[in-house]
Amino acid sequence: MSESFRSMLRALPDFPADLPVFDPASAPQDPAELFRSWLDEALAAGVPQPHSFSLATVGADGMPSSRMLILKNLDAEGWHFATSLASRKGRELTQHPLAAMNFFWSALGRQVRVVGPVVELSAEASAADWSERPSTDGTPNPTWQLYALRPVEVEFWQADPGRKHVRHRYSIPAG
Ligand SMILES: Cc1cc2nc3c(=O)[nH]c(=O)nc-3n(C[C@H](O)[C@H](O)[C@H](O)COP(=O)(O)O)c2cc1C
Repeated sequence: MSESFRSMLRALPDFPADLPVFDPASAPQDPAELFRSWLDEALAAGVPQPHSFSLATVGADGMPSSRMLILKNLDAEGWHFATSLASRKGRELTQHPLAAMNFFWSALGRQVRVVGPVVELSAEASAADWSERPSTDGTPNPTWQLYALRPVEVEFWQADPGRKHVRHRYSIPAG
């Protein structure tokens, strides 16, 4: 049973053969600009929910946890996401305001990793985000919190059919 499972996993297809070519030498200085163009290309390629990412946080005991979220914005404050302050990740961010994001677009063989401190955005911005959710019924949610991750590191990874995978890393001084 476990041997056939192992074989089944081994036989699963890898990335598609016709992947984009990424040349870090022509990448923009600003990782947010490169992210926007990769997101546009993921949308054009029909990737479902290309704005979803996994967010990893750390508990008081050092135990990591991760889950999928939706990117809400990208601006001078950072990479925005929202959740309940009362959730596990909300409590973990209150204790350890540090997180790691991971975007993955399989059809394009691309991954983007973002790491940095997380700040809470204003109550007004959080309320506006809550009220704009598609499932809203108009009831306010005081536990809803909009956050911004301020990257200290952003890494773009492009798979290559010849396995010469390309990594392009930005280090940004915390400030
Ligand atoms: C694609 C996708 C997007 C999601 N987006 C959000 C989101 O933006 N905010 C949120 O609180 N939960 C979102 N969730 C649910 C979270 O993954 C998670 O289950 C929930 O927030 C509780 O996480 P926690 O117990 O680790 O705090 C999303 C789930 C999926 C699969």
